[in-house]
Amino acid sequence: MFLPAVLSELLSRLFIHIFAAMATAGKVIKCKAAVAWEPNKPLVIEEIEVAPPQANEVRIKIVATAVCHSDLYHLLESMHKDGFPTVLGHEAAGIVESVGPGVTEFQPGDKVLPLFISQCRECRFCKSPKTNQCEKGWATRPNVMAPLESRLTCKGKKVLQFTGTSTFSEYTVVNQMAVAKIDPAAPLEKVCLLGCGISTGYGAAVNTAKVEPGSTCAVFGLGAVGLAAVMGCKSAGAKRIIAVDINPEKFVKAKVLGATDCVNPKDHDKPISQVLAEMTNGGVDFSLECAGNVGVMRSALESCVKGWGVSVIVGWTDLHDISARPLQLIAGRTWKGSVFGGFKGRDGVPQMVKAYMDKKVKLDEFITHNMTLDQVNDAIELMKHGKCIRTVLKVSSQ
Ligand SMILES: NC(=O)c1ccc[n+]([C@@H]2O[C@H](COP(=O)([O-])OP(=O)(O)OC[C@H]3O[C@@H](n4cnc5c(N)ncnc54)[C@H](O)[C@@H]3O)[C@@H](O)[C@H]2O)c1
Ligand SMILES: [Zn+2]
Ligand SMILES: [Zn+2]
Repeated sequence: MFLPAVLSELLSRLFIHIFAAMATAGKVIKCKAAVAWEPNKPLVIEEIEVAPPQANEVRIKIVATAVCHSDLYHLLESMHKDGFPTVLGHEAAGIVESVGPGVTEFQPGDKVLPLFISQCRECRFCKSPKTNQCEKGWATRPNVMAPLESRLTCKGKKVLQFTGTSTFSEYTVVNQMAVAKIDPAAPLEKVCLLGCGISTGYGAAVNTAKVEPGSTCAVFGLGAVGLAAVMGCKSAGAKRIIAVDINPEKFVKAKVLGATDCVNPKDHDKPISQVLAEMTNGGVDFSLECAGNVGVMRSALESCVKGWGVSVIVGWTDLHDISARPLQLIAGRTWKGSVFGGFKGRDGVPQMVKAYMDKKVKLDEFITHNMTLDQVNDAIELMKHGKCIRTVLKVSSQ
């Protein structure tokens, strides 16, 4: 009997990966990567060395990676001056090239997403259904770039692995607790977005805010994270979704993803919280801050209705403190934060990939540009100037 064409294609690709892995397994791989040597400087395409995976590690050939604002934050905005040289990139998809001792869940040829927030399945946080804050991962340790020793070197120097991932590289090594195995039929150049921005925004609405059917929501900041939050509010059944951004070019996509109203704070003389209160008879039920600005975080909180309003901080910053009048909270509002949309990555990412394959979650609409790894600085410029939602960089062929 003949195998269906798709299955035989998948099998032949798998064999190619297994033979390729036999050639490289256990050896140092020399490959191309975009190295951030210092803050505020363009990335440099270099040849780097990627060491073989050690115990519990997986070496991944990155096929596609997108640029997220958190990459820009580290390069251009944060105070982590000691976090260089580094290879940025954390929103990616690839194929397992080889595995280290003790890895049983992955094998060469598996399609995977590296995770910037690990799921060890053993710590008290992984065991609790209340959180995704695995204590073994990078995200729970501020100021530490790589919880694990970096496997990357360039010109004789150790290169840090940003968020433990480093996906602006043809190959990277990640601990198995920070790798999600996905459907082999998934298109890597699309589902890479689920490695950060889309899962983050969607999950912040669905898992963290727990948006309710019939509710009124406001989303501040309409990059990929905020637009995914809009999509999450819609899928949770919100009846009104107010999209807020100072860049009105973002409103077209916001409407495609479910926004019912779009507001530019610059069009109003009064504070945006007052504008929203007037539009909604006292404030929204749920607000999500996806801009990474402490002033916007306060506005988002103040835009919530007293009594039960919930505001979620998603934007990433540790440069300034947040502030608000205690009365805002005393009056019954709740202020929360969300990392990676509350998803435990190894469990949640395959589910999000399935939701995309089942057409329950959109991804294609978020991709405004396709480029190659060599053009990473152009992609960074686009995001800096608010000219893209997501740029997907092709890194290697499959
Ligand atoms: N919590 C997490 O796990 C997590 C994960 C990924 C990204 N992030 C953070 O989420 C934020 C958004 O990421 P992105 O990739 O979508 O970024 P982006 O740069 O594409 O989008 C940010 C948007 O915010 C808008 N904005 C800026 N100032 C504003 C203001 N005062 N009022 C309203 N809108 C404003 C911008 O115009 C832009 O459209 C960043 O801070 C990023 O670091 C957090
Ligand atoms: Zn990100
Ligand atoms: Zn854990």
